[in-house]
Parts: sequence; structure tokens; C-alpha cells
Amino acid sequence: MDVRSWRPRTRPDTSCTFLRLLLSLFVALPVLVAAVEVAEGQQDIVITQGQSVGLLCDFTTSASLGNLYVMWTFQPSTANNVIQVISYMNGQITPASVEFAGRVGFLAPMPKLSASIFINRSTVDDAGTYNCLVNNIADSSGGGTGVRRLSVLVPPTPPACTLHGLVLPGANVTLTCNSAEGVPPPVYSWHGLTKTLPKFSILDRRRGTLLLRNLSASAAGKYICSSLNQAGKSNCTITITLPQREAYTMPNLC
Ligand SMILES: *[C@@H]1O[C@H](CO)[C@@H](O)[C@H](O)[C@H]1NC(C)=O
Ligand SMILES: *[C@@H]1O[C@H](CO)[C@@H](O)[C@H](O)[C@H]1NC(C)=O
Ligand SMILES: *[C@@H]1O[C@H](CO)[C@@H](O)[C@H](O)[C@H]1NC(C)=O
Ligand SMILES: *[C@@H]1O[C@H](CO)[C@@H](O)[C@H](O)[C@H]1NC(C)=O
Repeated sequence: MDVRSWRPRTRPDTSCTFLRLLLSLFVALPVLVAAVEVAEGQQDIVITQGQSVGLLCDFTTSASLGNLYVMWTFQPSTANNVIQVISYMNGQITPASVEFAGRVGFLAPMPKLSASIFINRSTVDDAGTYNCLVNNIADSSGGGTGVRRLSVLVPPTPPACTLHGLVLPGANVTLTCNSAEGVPPPVYSWHGLTKTLPKFSILDRRRGTLLLRNLSASAAGKYICSSLNQAGKSNCTITITLPQREAYTMPNLC
């Protein structure tokens, strides 16, 4: 069974029926004047992997909170399935699904006029769309929903600087720079650490390559590559050493 399904592994039948019933409450009623109003709130949230995030879902209701139902669902940005993040029903908080186990909770003790939750130790897999579904049975005219979209950025990992080709005068060599991880994909730049880049160099910022053509002594030196995205930057260096001119001339034996 796919763990990212609606059904918890335990008690699949009863909880499925229960979820259907609950969903039908949410789905059937919004056409009526919804007395439970979920505040607009911040819709698009951007965080860096590892950070905690609060997904806010404040609401108003005209009745007491004696029979409050809250359910948070999550659809990953990389998949089509929907999983249950956490819920509050019959006065009880239902444990989160495995993906969020031990990392999620309501921001305030329930029941409250807030269904806001936190997610700790975020990972890239937390990126996607979260729906906050609120129903207050005592408030007969229906439930409300809030949508929060979460992006999780990852700073570039320290890139690897490598050299391809033979370092000889007149030759072409390519320096490459690559970070194994980074969301969004990093862009790269190359600089000479002690001087400007040689005249015949071609930089590809997406691939991280620097083509050095027609190498001469002036190309020798230390180069630094910087890997950069919205979440951070990292660098690596590489040194080009050209054989000394003397190596190409016969030693003077006289
Ligand atoms: C989540 O993080 C907050 C702040 O770091 C901490 O106070 C809280 O105990 C954490 N909760 C869980 C369930 O990890
Ligand atoms: C270096 O590259 C240029 C074009 O990019 C090419 O014309 C030339 O032949 C190459 N030189 C060597 C030694 O490969
Ligand atoms: C390569 O560089 C040398 C001097 O460094 C120059 O004399 C020669 O014309 C250059 N060749 C090309 C194809 O640019
Ligand atoms: C390269 O990275 C190191 C370590 O993070 C940092 O101290 C240094 O300032 C960086 N250099 C440049 C030129 O960005």
C-alpha cells in the first residue's frame, strides 16, 4: 500500500469511512453562506530547508467551539497524491502521517479560533500545497478552507571545481564547477582570484563551465567559482599551472 495515501495503515476501513464523511461535510456545504470564515492569510511561503514554518489558518465562527473539526492535507509539488498532515476531531488531535511524524503540531492548544500549525525541521519534500479545512458542527451553515503554498529552498552544496583538458600553451581547457544540491538550481560564475579572466574565455553560468582558449602563461593562476541561488552561495577554487618556458628549451650546456 502506498504510504502517502489517505488511509492510515491502522484501522483502514473505519477511518476511511470517517474521512469520507468528514470530506463530504467540507465539500457539500461551501456553496451555502459559510459561517466558518478562514482568514486569507499568507498564501505563498518560502523557507530554507531545516527551518521551522508556521502555516496560519485563523477563522471565525458564530457558534461555540464544542464540535470543532480541523484537517490539514498536503499535496507535494512533485506528486499528485494527497496526504493528511494532522487533524483535530472529537476533541482529539490525530497523529500526523509518517512524513510529518514528530515535526508537526497545532500552534495553540485546541480548540481555538485558529487551526494554525507548525512544521519543524523542514525538508524539500515538504514543498507543495497545504489545505486547512475547518468545520464547526455547531455552526450549521458550513465549513471553510484555506490554501497555503510552501516552497523549500536548499542552499548550494560546496561545488567541485575540476579541470578538463591538457594544460599546455595554445591548448583549450575547460574548468567545470558543480554543486551536487541546490534548490532552485544554482547559477555559477568564475573569476580569477588574482587577476581578470583571460581574454578568450567563455563562461556558461548554467552549466558552470569556463572555457579557456589558446592557453598562454598569462592564464596561469588561481580561479574561483561561486555557486549561487536564493538560499545561499558556496565556492571552490582551482589553480592552473603552466609548464615553465624553460621546460621547452634545451638546457644551455655551455
Ligand atoms: C518545534 O520547534 C519549536 C521551536 O524550535 C520547539 O519549541 C518545539 O518543541 C518543536 N516541536 C516539535 C514537535 O518538534
Ligand atoms: C581551441 O578552440 C578553438 C575554437 O573554440 C579551435 O578553433 C581551436 O582549434 C582549439 N585549439 C585546440 C588546440 O584544440
Ligand atoms: C594564441 O596565442 C598566441 C600568443 O599567446 C598568439 O600568437 C596566437 O595568434 C594565438 N592563436 C590564436 C588562434 O588566437
Ligand atoms: C568562499 O567561501 C569561503 C567559505 O565559505 C568564504 O570564507 C569566502 O569568503 C568565499 N570567497 C569568496 C570570494 O566568496
